[in-house]
Amino acid sequence: MEAMRILMDEHQSLAAIIHAIRHMIKEIGAGRLQPDFKLLAAMVHYLDAYPEKRHHPKEDAYLFAPLRARTRDADAVLDKLEAEHADADARIAVLEAAVKHYASGAADGFDSFRTAFDTYASFYRSHMLTEEREVLPLIRKHFTAEDWAHANAGFIIDDPMHGTRAQDDEDFSRVFSKLVASAPAPIGFGAGPYKDD
Ligand SMILES: [Fe+2]
Ligand SMILES: [Fe+2]
Repeated sequence: MEAMRILMDEHQSLAAIIHAIRHMIKEIGAGRLQPDFKLLAAMVHYLDAYPEKRHHPKEDAYLFAPLRARTRDADAVLDKLEAEHADADARIAVLEAAVKHYASGAADGFDSFRTAFDTYASFYRSHMLTEEREVLPLIRKHFTAEDWAHANAGFIIDDPMHGTRAQDDEDFSRVFSKLVASAPAPIGFGAGPYKDD
């Protein structure tokens, strides 16, 4: 069940970046860390490019649509999750604006970034938990061997953390390692400040 393994891996990478940003916000708030705006912006870009633009479309195409074809039991939860997927651009726009505002030196910059990010983080936690606790069991129950074969193939073809990607794509595994390296210890290796390539 490669599709499940890749899906859980992607949830973990996403949770790790969210955790790293939360940790930085806590340290900045406590006065123990200077903000690295480039790192924050790069992390927001990663959230956009990877989970929002790559992970959700795979869920929609290879898991949710075939599940709908097998049962009506998942309709309500899938309606909700698909609507959340469709809101990706708006969610990221809020975060990008919050990083910009913070970086501009506005007096309320830190507080508004913290609020915007807390909203994003709690949204994602509940989105992923809903997928894992409500949808995956229904997939396991209703998918046929053919559905699994289709889903596995779709997830393997587009597994950007493991090099199966188009040539002009970002190497997400490398980007992820670079973000973690720049993040402060103990979450990252504290090798910052973050530098563009
Ligand atoms: Fe999702
Ligand atoms: Fe997901």
